[in-house]
Amino acid sequence: MDKYAVIGNPIQQSMSPDIHSAFAQQTDQDIEYGKLFAEVDGFKEVVDQFFAGGGKGLNVTAPFKLDAFDYADELTERARTAGAVNTLALQGDGSLLGDNTDGAGLVSDITRHLGWAIAGKKVLILGAGGATRGALLPLLKQGPARLHIANRTARKAEQLAEGFSEYGTIGASGLDAVPEEFDLIINASAASLSGELPPLSPRALAEGCRAYDMVYGAQPTPFMHWATGLGAEVSDGLGMLVGQAAESFALWRGVRPEVAPVLAMLRERLLQKAS
Ligand code: ATR
Repeated sequence: MDKYAVIGNPIQQSMSPDIHSAFAQQTDQDIEYGKLFAEVDGFKEVVDQFFAGGGKGLNVTAPFKLDAFDYADELTERARTAGAVNTLALQGDGSLLGDNTDGAGLVSDITRHLGWAIAGKKVLILGAGGATRGALLPLLKQGPARLHIANRTARKAEQLAEGFSEYGTIGASGLDAVPEEFDLIINASAASLSGELPPLSPRALAEGCRAYDMVYGAQPTPFMHWATGLGAEVSDGLGMLVGQAAESFALWRGVRPEVAPVLAMLRERLLQKAS
């Protein structure tokens, strides 16, 4: 039986084993998927051991996405531009491919699952950290009419936009200087994690705007509340979690699982835990 796992610190709370077990069952794949804990400075040791023991692939979560980036023998383009690796895959020649499926998971949740268009739309992304960086190339590949990064610290948004200039035109500003109305606003800032609302003007929302928060939970985030109050259709990021897992699963196994039933299962579990 081929062995896979997710590595992180902490790792107890990870839903990845449930997601991948459901995918395996759905697609008739005989795999084992576990959780690996590593000390903050102990990534290499644990991963060496995992692959020496016959492991075929890993998902990598906080705080190890940069360690995995360094560990991989080869990188996909989207991992290189993300500057981080969330998926390691053992290849036929024994080398390890580092991929980043977070941005693809976001895009597939938005376009396929929610059915919201990105192509031809004006897209605003909030935040200029790793989450934004991982999303930029997959978003640009959808062909938005424009892509703008707004961050609390404007300089960081500008630097990120400059770094991606070869892939398309990206605008950048502080949160207080967002230029015009947008059709889709993605909150990739860490604000929701601390129950905060990024200070954005309601004028950023175009008529029929959609708002996506990468964070998920039993309750809507402050950003989702705010956008709903302004008439936007909203979503949290649970589908991105399932979407990135589906992309990893497809890379490892060559089959693409269906996300909808797995997402429904997780949503129910989140609500049950909270009640
Ligand atoms: P991640 O890897 O999750 O993107 P990160 O690299 O620490 O995390 O980046 C966090 C992002 O959230 C940053 O863009 C940060 O803004 P600054 O660059 O100004 O620090 C943003 N952020 C964090 N808390 C925020 C808040 N309360 N309101 C708005 N933006 C916030």
